Amino acid sequence: MMNALWHPFADMSVSAEKKVVLQHGEGCHVWDESGNEYLDATAGLWFCNVGYGRRDLIEQATQQMGRLPAYSTFDVYANRPALELANRIAALAPTAGPTGVFFTSGGSDAVDTAGKIARRYWQVAGAPERTVIISREHAYHGVNAYGTSLSGIQVNAEGWGPLVADTVRVPAHDTAALERALAEHSGRVAAFIGEPVIGAGGVRPPEDGYWARVQELCRRDDVLLIADEVISGFGRLGTWFACEHYGIEPDLLTGAKGVTSGYMPLGFVAAGDRVRSLLWDDGGVFRHGYTYSGHPVACAVGLANLELIEIESLRPRVEALAPVLAQVLDGLVGRPGVAAVRSAGLLGAVDLAGAAEDPSLPGRVVAAMRERGVLIRALAGGSLQLSPSFVISEVELARIGDTIASALDAVAAAEVGS
Ligand SMILES: Cc1ncc(COP(=O)(O)O)c(C=O)c1O
Repeated sequence: MMNALWHPFADMSVSAEKKVVLQHGEGCHVWDESGNEYLDATAGLWFCNVGYGRRDLIEQATQQMGRLPAYSTFDVYANRPALELANRIAALAPTAGPTGVFFTSGGSDAVDTAGKIARRYWQVAGAPERTVIISREHAYHGVNAYGTSLSGIQVNAEGWGPLVADTVRVPAHDTAALERALAEHSGRVAAFIGEPVIGAGGVRPPEDGYWARVQELCRRDDVLLIADEVISGFGRLGTWFACEHYGIEPDLLTGAKGVTSGYMPLGFVAAGDRVRSLLWDDGGVFRHGYTYSGHPVACAVGLANLELIEIESLRPRVEALAPVLAQVLDGLVGRPGVAAVRSAGLLGAVDLAGAAEDPSLPGRVVAAMRERGVLIRALAGGSLQLSPSFVISEVELARIGDTIASALDAVAAAEVGS
């Protein structure tokens, strides 16, 4: 039988033969082709915020496909869903308005676009020497060339040879280190990029005051501030965007995933007035864009998704569930196998003790949880990722906690027995 699917972030010597083929989903549950049901603790890859099986999104996609499945938004062309979704995002984004919204096909494209917009901004502003972008240790900004170059997860940045030049890493949550980097590269820094809560690098919320100080330093040195809200956008922390939660106004904001709850691939960069006005008024042709920038079906689904988040009060629901998730994770502290836990909104992580010494451990815990009917994911640093759909119940959150505990016990028992 043919077996051609090349899985992303996979060791194909394993994944070619060992697959979990998922077939359908409803709420925060998915089923595989053999009929096994799983509670999805991660909302896919941090995206399915409104849960699976939403008729409104499916109907909007179907209707838009019937009207106009696709047309580019290059040059003068537009379509109604792209116009409306851009306006909706611009109204919600915490960028200083009026804001311009540039659509992409996903989060990696959004980061690439934001990096190029930042560099272009300084070219047009008459400071072409500003080419350096500062990012942070533990950062994940996708896998395009720019995102890989900005990566603070070392294993993701290694093994490709030379990457995009002029990227600099500073320790996460260390504003003194950022200040030193700004001084070292004085007059050459185009932008600083960070996830409001570090996601794939281990779900690491900042300390109080961190983002306010970063914004202060960026403003002081006239450096553009890019917030990568690919995970944290659209309600993960209760607010529409995490920047709002931390009280900052970035110059550029990247988003994807939760904008459509993953029902269609879509990303964007929201550019506040400082960038928008310069590049719209004086930038000439911005020679960048994707075939599917402003894809009408993706944008129609995005509009329906945002509407659902609003009418079902899903953001207040996240606010109510956040302490429940924190409590579930706190209940794991002190158990054998658990080194630390962290959470912010409906984002959580469990650091597994011993993962550094035994890199196969997280995979075994994930498999043990799958056998117990819960889909979870191991992050590069050896933590378990929790990012459930906003429709998850308190009982289901408790079940995830109990399943982590029983999976850890089973993995430990298997080690003793082997
Ligand atoms: C913060 C952040 N930026 C960018 C990306 C890349 O998005 P995509 O996988 O849609 O290209 C991700 C994906 O997880 C992300 O978490």
